[in-house]
Amino acid sequence: MEKIVQYLKDHHEESIEELKEYIRFPSVSAQPSKHGKDIIDCANWIESHCRSIGLEVKQYPTTGNPIIVAEVPESLVENSEEAQKILLYGHYDVQPPEPFELWTTPPFDPTIRDGHIYARGASDNKGQHFSHLKALEAYLKTGTKLPCHVTMIIEGEEEVGSESLYKFIEDHGDLLAADFIYISDNGIPSLDHPTITYALRGVCALDVELSGPNKDLHSGFYGGAVANPATELCRLLAKLHDDNGVVQIPGFYENVMELTDEERESFKNLPESDEKLLDLTGAPALKGEFGYSSYERRACRPTVEINGMISGYNGDGSKTIIPAKASAKITMRLVPNQAPQAILDQIEKFLKSNCPDSMRINIEKGHAGAPYLTSPNGPFALAASRAVEKAFGKKALISREGGSIPIINEFKERLGIDTLLPGLGLPDDNMHSPNEKFTLECFERGKLMSAYLIDELGGQN
Ligand code: BES
Ligand code: MN
Repeated sequence: MEKIVQYLKDHHEESIEELKEYIRFPSVSAQPSKHGKDIIDCANWIESHCRSIGLEVKQYPTTGNPIIVAEVPESLVENSEEAQKILLYGHYDVQPPEPFELWTTPPFDPTIRDGHIYARGASDNKGQHFSHLKALEAYLKTGTKLPCHVTMIIEGEEEVGSESLYKFIEDHGDLLAADFIYISDNGIPSLDHPTITYALRGVCALDVELSGPNKDLHSGFYGGAVANPATELCRLLAKLHDDNGVVQIPGFYENVMELTDEERESFKNLPESDEKLLDLTGAPALKGEFGYSSYERRACRPTVEINGMISGYNGDGSKTIIPAKASAKITMRLVPNQAPQAILDQIEKFLKSNCPDSMRINIEKGHAGAPYLTSPNGPFALAASRAVEKAFGKKALISREGGSIPIINEFKERLGIDTLLPGLGLPDDNMHSPNEKFTLECFERGKLMSAYLIDELGGQN
């Protein structure tokens, strides 16, 4: 490992410049008409970068964005016939950068300030998976044979539901066959608390629209006699939770797996506090499901969230109308063993049966991804834990996290492979927010971590 560690040290500055180059592509998957070409350029760049570090690479066109598969050449794998195989995953697409005016420096002009690199995609997810690539480079460029096969898949639709990757797994599952997967597309509580995540929440989405009058009406002429869709939508949505933050959809909690005592015990090691959450979010007070800690609420319990609402007039001044309609976008975070489609059916039924006679209701169901949970104690997890400890110089903690990477469940269901998530993002990285960043020390530790992971996981044979 010495040679590898030295290589990473010697090439740190260079790798920061390369990462900046990668981040500079505005590969926003949600805006294909604006950024279609940037997506292709970004895919091409990472493809040729993988080739330049010595990986065997192929780009696969899809009906959406290209998928890149890069492999360590078989000749560079020690004892290649018996060696195990690790699959790595990352996504080169990023969230939309809006609102632009809240960025200190432009979102696609990566800028280093105080040891952090600021740009959209810096931590979610380019910086994180680039760490893995740099670890592979260190093996390949120092001529160090790897103790296992490594394949890395980099997709371009994670932020919009990974549709092409689902299809890719069906068509090319053989390429991805592996003994285990590790992914850094998540977070750790702090650099002093390196953490391996063994569970993520699932997520499913729907839009609801209430309509009343066939056009916006004069609120003086008709107000008081005709129901207001905006008011009725608020009343309907308010029924989703009671005053204790408990979701009121019948059956919602039916299959929820409760935390074990062992999990609760291990979570005590996480540096979680309400003060920190207040500080990170800027909210005046916290609120959530009664009977659970803030950490449990945001990582281990299911939720229903309103993501956006539209109704009536929102321009300058005032306009006295009863809007013709009102709509909301809703997503739900799910935990084992909730089934996304069943939950979507439940909420549809709930909204329809609570819709007042004065309104017509229309519901459009959206994406649906299952939650994921694996054991934090298997041999794979123990090997990962040793690697993380070596890279960070601190004992690895374990956690469940609230975000979603639905494809992980597909890796398990379709290919039978378990995933662990040794994260590299920090709570203040502003993923999906303005001023996203990646801390350079996370990059440095991440490269080391990945190098040790390959060593420890491969060494399990
Ligand atoms: N990197 C995140 C997932 C994540 C964030 C996991 C924080 C753990 C902690 C990922 O890119 C993401 O944002 N996923 C979406 C999925 C959705 C679009 C289907 C999410 O969680 O909202
Ligand atoms: Mn991500």
